[in-house]
Parts: sequence; C-alpha cells; structure tokens
Amino acid sequence: MFEDKHITLTVSGSVAAYKAALLARDLQRAGAEVRVALTAGAAQFVTAETFAALTKAPVLTDETWWRANGQIDHIELADWTDLAIAAPASANLMAQLANGLADDAASATWLATAAPKVVVPAMNTHMWQAPATQRNRQQLVSDGVHVLTPATGQLAEGYAGQGRFLEPAEIVAQIGQLGLFVPQTLAGKHVIVTAGGTRERLDPVRFLTNDSSGKMGYAVATAARQAGADVTLITAPTKLSSPAGVTVVPIESTTDLAQAVLSRFPQADALVMAAAVADFQPEVVADQKIKKTTDNDEFILKLKKTPDILKEVATIKRPKQVTVGFAAETQNLLVNGAKKLHDKSLDLLAANDVSRSDIGFNGDDNQVTFIMADGVTDQTPKTSKTLIAQALIDRVAQLLATK
Ligand code: C5P
Repeated sequence: MFEDKHITLTVSGSVAAYKAALLARDLQRAGAEVRVALTAGAAQFVTAETFAALTKAPVLTDETWWRANGQIDHIELADWTDLAIAAPASANLMAQLANGLADDAASATWLATAAPKVVVPAMNTHMWQAPATQRNRQQLVSDGVHVLTPATGQLAEGYAGQGRFLEPAEIVAQIGQLGLFVPQTLAGKHVIVTAGGTRERLDPVRFLTNDSSGKMGYAVATAARQAGADVTLITAPTKLSSPAGVTVVPIESTTDLAQAVLSRFPQADALVMAAAVADFQPEVVADQKIKKTTDNDEFILKLKKTPDILKEVATIKRPKQVTVGFAAETQNLLVNGAKKLHDKSLDLLAANDVSRSDIGFNGDDNQVTFIMADGVTDQTPKTSKTLIAQALIDRVAQLLATK
C-alpha cells in the first residue's frame, strides 16, 4: 500500500504513545520507510531508542535538534517526507499544528513539509470534546489535513468515552482508504456514477424502493475521484455523506435519474451505473395522500415499466465512451450478466450474487465477477467495497486508454 513511501511519524505525549511503535511496524509492513519525530511529551512515555531500533534510522527529538553538525534536521526530514502522520496526536500537538507553531523539532518538521498529512488524535474525552480542540480539528481539516476520528471506548482514566487511539491496523487501513498515492489514471476524464435505490412515488408520502444502501456507488465515485477524475455522482437518497471533491446531483425516481444521466452523458468519458434502479413505477402518482375507504378491503396498485436508462444511453454512446453496469442476480450470474452486457452495449459489467447474505446490498463487503465485452470474466475475492471500487476504476482507466 505504501511501497517505497517515506513516512514521518510524529509521536506526541499520550498514554497511547507506546502503540505508535506498533503503528511504525505496521506501516513498514505496508511497504513504507518510516522515520520518527518525538515531542518532549512523547519522550515521557516512550524512548527514542525504541523507534530508532524499529526504524533503523535516527529519531528527531528536541535533544538532537540543532546539533552543530551543519544539518538543519527539521528541513532535511520535512523534505524527505512523502506522508506525515501525527499519531498519537495529543490535544496540545493538534493545537500546535492547527496554529502553525514551530517551537519544537516535531512541529517545525510538520510545518516545513508539503507532503499530505494525517492526524490521529488520542486524548481524554473531555479534552477531545473541548471547543478549542474541535476548533483546531476544523482548522486542520480546512488546511487539507486528514483528521481521523478517535474511537469510543475505555480510556486510560478508567471510564469510557470518545478519544481512544485507533488500533494501528485500523489506522493503516483508514489511511489506505484516503487513496493518497493512487496513480492519476483518470486525470482529465469526466466520470458519471449513479448510486442508491430509486424511489417511485405512489402519493406525496409513500414510495416504492429497494434495499440498496448506495455504498457501492459512493465507493466507485470516491475511487474515480482519487484516480484524478472529475466526478459527478447522481444519487438517490442514501444515509451516506457526500464524497469529498465530487459534484453531487440528488434525484429520487428512475425518471429523474434518466433525465440527469441522459443530459450529462454526452459530456462524459465514462458512466458507471451502480444505482439500483426500479424496474416498475406506479402508473399514476396521486396528488393527494391515498385514503383508506370503508367500502374496499383491497387496493390495487398498477405499475408500468420504467425507462431502461442504460439501453437509452447505448443509443447515444460514442465509440470512445465507456459504460459500466452492475447486475444484482440471485441465479445464473454469468449467463444473465453476459446477456445484460450485450443488451445494454456495455464495456464492463460487475455482477454480484445478492442471494448470499454475507455480501451485497447493505454490507461493507462485496464480491463481484467482472464480465468484459470480449467474454472474459474475473471474480474478485470477497473484500471491501472500497477495494472493489478501486479494481473497477482500474478497469475503466484501462478501457479508456485502449479506446
Ligand atoms: O435491473 P438490472 O439488473 O437490469 O440492472 C442492470 C444495470 O442496468 C444496472 O447497472 C442498472 O443501474 C441499470 N438499469 C438501468 N435502467 C433500468 C434498470 C437498470 O439503467 N431501468
């Protein structure tokens, strides 16, 4: 994940400082070369020797800073850095970093580096919730720093609350998901992604919908953005927050979605239809709330077919454009998938078996079989929707490059 990347780990004064040693080791296992800057507070909890032995590199501390050796240590370390991680970041370190202080070796190095930055807070829950800390967090975020959310759980003080240092493996996973070193394979490309389950209204307060959470589509939009694309996410209502740097177009019904997709598709390089689109919609939408009546024990709802958006897209698709569909199947995955790919003139179809309870609609994991237009198929392992989305975006980039 971090092959050959230079990571500077800034460790500050927190009981969780001992876990930074495990984090350094996990980052190395993920391919990184790690160097450490210790604040004076951190040195109360852990020693420079531990980190020097683990990283096989000198550790920058206030004691070793400004030796008369002709080297400006904080600039040398800052220039070496590809990624700066402050973990654990105490309330005091967050305050220093948010305000651009450079009054010790660790904060001076941080200020001097232009590399991407991640802060992993760890502190007492009251210190975390203090308005000043939250203000500092906001400031860091608006400066472009990624601030991870501390865990809620048992604190060293003996009671539970938010402020716990995330487990090292979780930190590595969350930083990986930021996509900081993703190759810019979609730079200059416009990608439309659709997500979520459409809502087909019966009346002003009722609608038909499905189980789609939107997670797969949001993960695809994020992966496309991380690969450098200009992304438009057309989304049915979901509980998810908008991915950063993406243009979001909210829609409700299949008719809205069709309009939003067809009006934008001519300007796009690729379209990924991850939305779970209703196949039928009520023939009439009542203007007023449908009432129960005493003379009738049943209510018959007449449905009509929705427009097949990808089929309509196929009629206006230019040779250089790439279209990708999803197929949620409960049987004959490959046969039904291949048929959809041809019916809708797709370049790629991601088919998944929604009869399995461990993957699919609402979960964080998925397993899909990619079906290519030439009939080649490739099944992913069961893994996170984030990784599946990245694999899908790699394929989109390859398809665009060969068109
Ligand atoms: O519903 P179905 O399995 O046919 O969906 C396959 C693909 O077609 C999906 O990518 C879905 O978003 C898209 N679709 C569509 N218009 C519909 C139904 C599905 O574009 N009316």
